[in-house]
Amino acid sequence: MRSGAFVADYDAWHRSWAADPHAFWDAAARELDWFAPWSQVSEIHGPDQGAGHRWFIGGKINLSHNCLERNIERGLGERVALHFESENGAARSFTYSEVLHEVSRVANCLKSFGITKGDRVVVYMPLTPQGIFTMQACARIGAIHSVVYAGIGPDALRQRIEDAGARMVICADATYRRGKVIDLLSIVERAVQGLGFVENVLVHRREAVRPLGQRQSDFEQCVRRQSPQCSAVVTDAEDPAFILYTSGTSGKPKGVVHVHGGYAVGVHLLMRHYYDTRENDVWWSTSDIGWIVGHSYICYGPMLAGCTQVVREGAPDWPDAGVVWSLIAKYRVSTMFTAPTAVRMFMRAGPEPVEKHDITSLRVLYCAGEPFNPEAQEWAARHLGKHGAAVVDNYWQTEIASPMIGTFPAMTARPGFAGKPMPGVELDIVTPEGAAVPDGKGGLLVMKKPVPYMMRTIWGDPARYLAYWSRMLGGYVTGDIAVRDAEGYIAVLGRSDDVLNVAGHRIGTAEVESALLTHPAVVESAVVGLPDALKGECIVAFVVAKGSEPVGRVAEDLEAALIVHVRDTLGPIAQPSKVTFVASLPKTRSGKIMRRLLKARELGQEVGDISTLED
Ligand code: PRX
Repeated sequence: MRSGAFVADYDAWHRSWAADPHAFWDAAARELDWFAPWSQVSEIHGPDQGAGHRWFIGGKINLSHNCLERNIERGLGERVALHFESENGAARSFTYSEVLHEVSRVANCLKSFGITKGDRVVVYMPLTPQGIFTMQACARIGAIHSVVYAGIGPDALRQRIEDAGARMVICADATYRRGKVIDLLSIVERAVQGLGFVENVLVHRREAVRPLGQRQSDFEQCVRRQSPQCSAVVTDAEDPAFILYTSGTSGKPKGVVHVHGGYAVGVHLLMRHYYDTRENDVWWSTSDIGWIVGHSYICYGPMLAGCTQVVREGAPDWPDAGVVWSLIAKYRVSTMFTAPTAVRMFMRAGPEPVEKHDITSLRVLYCAGEPFNPEAQEWAARHLGKHGAAVVDNYWQTEIASPMIGTFPAMTARPGFAGKPMPGVELDIVTPEGAAVPDGKGGLLVMKKPVPYMMRTIWGDPARYLAYWSRMLGGYVTGDIAVRDAEGYIAVLGRSDDVLNVAGHRIGTAEVESALLTHPAVVESAVVGLPDALKGECIVAFVVAKGSEPVGRVAEDLEAALIVHVRDTLGPIAQPSKVTFVASLPKTRSGKIMRRLLKARELGQEVGDISTLED
């Protein structure tokens, strides 16, 4: 057992929740600053009554106030909140007081454009201090941010701007990755074309190579003119703080809605008691503000906990394989969060880059986002463990916003298993009919009751929110398949639906299929995920082309064109690794594409039961 961990005893912490769940959440909420207290901890309705749940009822709070003023009032104003580094060489640090001033300036800038509480603001910015300040500024004035990963293509961005009905889009003109300057502004320009309800596009100009266009304003110029004072608005515990789009099983992404109160309470609690953060810790998450990890554990969690964090823009293997370890040494990083894909990348580079740097400051490496294959986990445990770091897995989702299952640093890690349920999280593993599955057997992972830090709804689509809940299955259906061992450790094996996980990114097969269908040469398409040594899964598309089935050179050219087409539409993360042309797709009699047959064919496996197959 590692000494000095906050939660040295998982069982004791779990017992404290089980003994009195209300008192547990009440105490967790009391660790934050409230403008007015709550009268009731929670109110929960079952799936038959809409599956609504409210927490800290009547309580008034503000997420950004809890990250900034609360810590400054505790005497942390001069502590560094962010050390920023970009792969283009930029580096700058901001104390908590400086962050408050910057966030306040951005908030005043938003107000100067008439943005107020409840307005939606789409943020298409890379991982930069300005991106974080913009999110915090929205939360500060009660505007609802919807951050879209600045790597998602123009069609996908447009869909999200339209769905949220955003009055304003805030972007950067460029980001830097693997030595290249990536133009973001032209993606935004394509995305907002003809969308009259978008009143303004604020551009953080990093390259400033061309003059600003219609509806566009200079972010920095506006921000610099503002006062550095802007007190946080009072929001209700249940007021939405942000929307974050994620992939589902249809072509339309889902706008997951999180609120100020329960979200702040959960993220703060788990940042301290699961991620084991103390104020003198230096935290580094390699995620991006475009994903839920970047919301909970870059933008908000570290500042809720009052610690210092490293924020780095760029690829983790650029300019060289040692960059991650050199930054750990430079900033004395103590806790780090990354994805198994990154660990597989470290493994591929071998232990030499690690050995060249002093990483003795690192206490724990947390990994999440996709199944952590034992080989990668054991490699990391061996090569980082000898310098004193524990390597542990944790499982959660965009919808839940903080860990549901995890291995605590003080617990024995079991490679292949994410760990045990967080206190407050009641899980079940069931058959598709809702019967309990015995230990050691796989089934559907269900959460029996809501937790304060989970989503409240799907933006503009309550029916889609309700579809997560099943009375037959006994609660919130995660969409994942899991297995529990006799000691209560849970392994999450993969999705039970048509959602892929490529390098830790969630991508719906339907989204890629819809993008393919917008190409004039495509009649039908089906997308499957195949195992990939580095990315976990890679995307393979099967396409029925217009006219005769393409072969030889024609097929090669069309394959290349379709890959580029998907990249241009949805962004590079969704681009297929391979396109195979087929005369027809295997379908059930009811017309559903049998993706598992296509997958089995690619893997050279037995196809199993095909009695429902039409052709
Ligand atoms: O399939 C599960 C997988 O990633 C999905 C959630 O992805 P996202 O919404 O992007 O949120 C990521 C938050 C860390 C899950 O439904 N997943 C996430 N963590 C794990 C995992 N699969 C296996 N093991 C994990 N530790």
